[in-house]
Amino acid sequence: MSEDLSGKTVIVTGGNTGIGRVTAFELARLKAEVIIIGRNKETCETAVKDISALTKNDKVSYHIVDLGSFKSIAGFVQEFSSSHNTLDILVNNAGVMTPPVDVTEDNLDATVGINYMGHFYLTHLLGEMLVKSKARVVVLSAEAHKKANITLEQLEGDVPAFMQPVEKKSCDTDWAQFAISNRAKIYFAKELSARQPDITAVSVHPGVVSTDLFRSFNVLFKCFGICFRPFLKTPQQGAATTLHCCTGDMSGHKGEYFIDSKPSELAAGTIDPAVQKKLWDVSVALCEKLGK
Ligand SMILES: NC(=O)c1ccc[n+]([C@@H]2O[C@H](COP(=O)([O-])OP(=O)(O)OC[C@H]3O[C@@H](n4cnc5c(N)ncnc54)[C@H](OP(=O)(O)O)[C@@H]3O)[C@@H](O)[C@H]2O)c1
Repeated sequence: MSEDLSGKTVIVTGGNTGIGRVTAFELARLKAEVIIIGRNKETCETAVKDISALTKNDKVSYHIVDLGSFKSIAGFVQEFSSSHNTLDILVNNAGVMTPPVDVTEDNLDATVGINYMGHFYLTHLLGEMLVKSKARVVVLSAEAHKKANITLEQLEGDVPAFMQPVEKKSCDTDWAQFAISNRAKIYFAKELSARQPDITAVSVHPGVVSTDLFRSFNVLFKCFGICFRPFLKTPQQGAATTLHCCTGDMSGHKGEYFIDSKPSELAAGTIDPAVQKKLWDVSVALCEKLGK
């Protein structure tokens, strides 16, 4: 993929704030048509206005989509497909750590439902277009994946246990759900690349970045965060690996996990091929069930 993205179409989920906003800005600067997906109308509008003005690219737009709602995702894909035939880069960037709601519209745990399942459904619906465009899919994950595991037993049933609403929410369960959603996203990028030879999917850890991801944390944690801010990456630094994966040469790196713009070896035991396949199959079945 070249550094001149004229004629290319890109979707950035969560492109209205944080790492996603910088990603959207840089891709617009490279002349791509950029479609931002976000929930907040005000920040989406400001992002589009600022990015268009600063990059002099008038092909920047937004759609209000809740990745915690299959209906909202399907509505977006229907609209997008009626006006576009190709999609060259999909950046699955949006994410929550302590979501404002506990449960998605489709009765899934909000963290896993938004971070993993919402993006799975979005990619699933855009699948044909992504294949036709020989697209790149860049999935934001996190080193937090190391704190979680997914086993075959956990994938039993129509809705795997870790996707179901958490009964007694706490700081610990928030971290656990964030971790498992990021493990699932690494599996997703690997299996998508394996199943679709024409798609190049990779996952990314952006570093620890000073953004609003921690917005719902308690005051004590926020104060802690302010003290550590000078040691965190800026959103610009945090977007660097995503941008490398969007535009750099990814041949030979399909399905890999990137940190600091380099492929990074996953710890031994992180990936179980049987889990990878079953997680995909269970997720497709869930898309078919909930997407009706
Ligand atoms: N910051 C870090 O240190 C760090 C570390 C590791 C991984 N990451 C990952 O990097 C990605 C970007 O995070 P960030 O740090 O830039 O966080 P951020 O500033 O909080 O941005 C998150 C974005 O996700 C969007 N979003 C959240 N829930 C959504 C929903 N239900 N539907 C649609 N959009 C939704 C938000 O849109 P609205 O504002 O409209 O809700 C926002 O644009 C995330 O996947 C995160 O897990 C971040």
